[in-house]
Amino acid sequence: MSELAMPQTAVATRLPEAQKPADAATHAPPPVLPRLVTSIPGPKSVELFEAEQKLISPGLQRMSLLARIAVASGRGAQLTDVDGNTFVDFIAGVAVASLGHSHPKYIAAIDDQVRKNVVGSFTSPVRLELLQRIAAVTPGNLKKAQLYSGGAEAVEAALRLAKSHTKRFEVLGFWGGFHGKTGGVLPLIGDEFKQGWGPLAPGVHQTPYADCYRCPIALKYPSCGMACVELTKKQLKATTAGSLAAIIAEPMQGTAGNVIPPPEFIPAIREIAKENGALFIADEMITGCGRTGKWFGVEHTGTVPDIMTVGKGLGSGFPVSGLISTDEITQAKPYAKPSSSSSSYGGNALASAAANVTLKTIAEEDLVGNSARMGEWMLHRLRELQERFRFIGDVRGKGLFLGMDLVKDRTTREPLDGKTMEWVYMECLKRGLLAMIYSARVRINPPLTLTRAEAEAGLGVLEEVFGLLAKKLGA
Ligand SMILES: Cc1ncc(COP(=O)(O)O)c(C=O)c1O
Repeated sequence: MSELAMPQTAVATRLPEAQKPADAATHAPPPVLPRLVTSIPGPKSVELFEAEQKLISPGLQRMSLLARIAVASGRGAQLTDVDGNTFVDFIAGVAVASLGHSHPKYIAAIDDQVRKNVVGSFTSPVRLELLQRIAAVTPGNLKKAQLYSGGAEAVEAALRLAKSHTKRFEVLGFWGGFHGKTGGVLPLIGDEFKQGWGPLAPGVHQTPYADCYRCPIALKYPSCGMACVELTKKQLKATTAGSLAAIIAEPMQGTAGNVIPPPEFIPAIREIAKENGALFIADEMITGCGRTGKWFGVEHTGTVPDIMTVGKGLGSGFPVSGLISTDEITQAKPYAKPSSSSSSYGGNALASAAANVTLKTIAEEDLVGNSARMGEWMLHRLRELQERFRFIGDVRGKGLFLGMDLVKDRTTREPLDGKTMEWVYMECLKRGLLAMIYSARVRINPPLTLTRAEAEAGLGVLEEVFGLLAKKLGA
């Protein structure tokens, strides 16, 4: 692609010399971004992508199938592909890379640990340090953790623990909820994704989540009087076998589109669990570890759950997850029997080192505060865009957990169609922004290390593409 044929972006530069090396001491990211040197996807990316497609089974995430880029390296909130193009990253591996890419402290800690010991269930200094760090930041009496590798695995373990503690077997989840794809959590998926996988594990019930922009029972907040909470109470009476072990909810729904319920919703759900003799599990896989501008999403409402599940940002890329509960609850058998709550990789020394340095760095560099501050600034900028562009129906956010609904009409709230959204995604990518903007419920979740320059660069691209979208829609 010629220089002239490239999309024009105020913040983009194509000059290789403009990409200064990052300052290793301060971990300052390169100051000028994004940097585009080929058409997108570039020729080397396409070659690798096509070679991989011959060997990898179908079913990769849509964002990678659409983009067809091959990533070579990353720094801060920037990813560079094998052709040398650098993108601002508002995805962060879907809220995984909390420390950003290639944080020097992260590299050093993993390098150090891999030279010492990697495997095993035996006590290690680093696992103890990690558990102490977790206990120092969790709310209430949630001080006992067990570690796993994947998010779904941790949620399944939380369900086993709830069953062990209550000696009951039913679970209530929510429409729009997502807790992973393994057998035990598949029935908790709150949309049509689970179709075709039946028969699903029995004993799982679902009820509407307080997704107020798209109210599942067509009411308006606050005049609804939180009718969804009342519905949950009725549903428990009408549909369960009276053996509820747990209610599980995301404090804010990630996969559904970074949805933020009204502040009274989670406390009300917690109360319903109590009234029914069930445990309340807060799935903090996405909302935990500083993502929402507090250590955990539940803190926005002062709710202390019985069990929290964490993962994703906990290891900043290393597959490590866990559940955290009270001393009393974790004593429950059979969960507490030897070898009953363990796994091959959960909390091994390498996983512990990754999670330990992540939590340590989040604290040392005040990344929870950065998430709150940068998130607030981005929210303000997104609201300004909403004033300019009629197709932005809703903007919401807590910390660096931001969402938008793009609509054909603000009154009907009909979402923009998939084809248009894929076009938006690719136009952003071609200008150097990676964002989950391929569906009408837009999710923005950059690394917690996001700098003002990175945020401005990414939002600059978004603004430019929204200008094009307005023309395309004739809006
Ligand atoms: C809230 C929540 N829980 C659980 C999971 C499952 O995590 P994993 O993909 O690591 O199994 C996800 C993944 O997106 C999630 O968003």
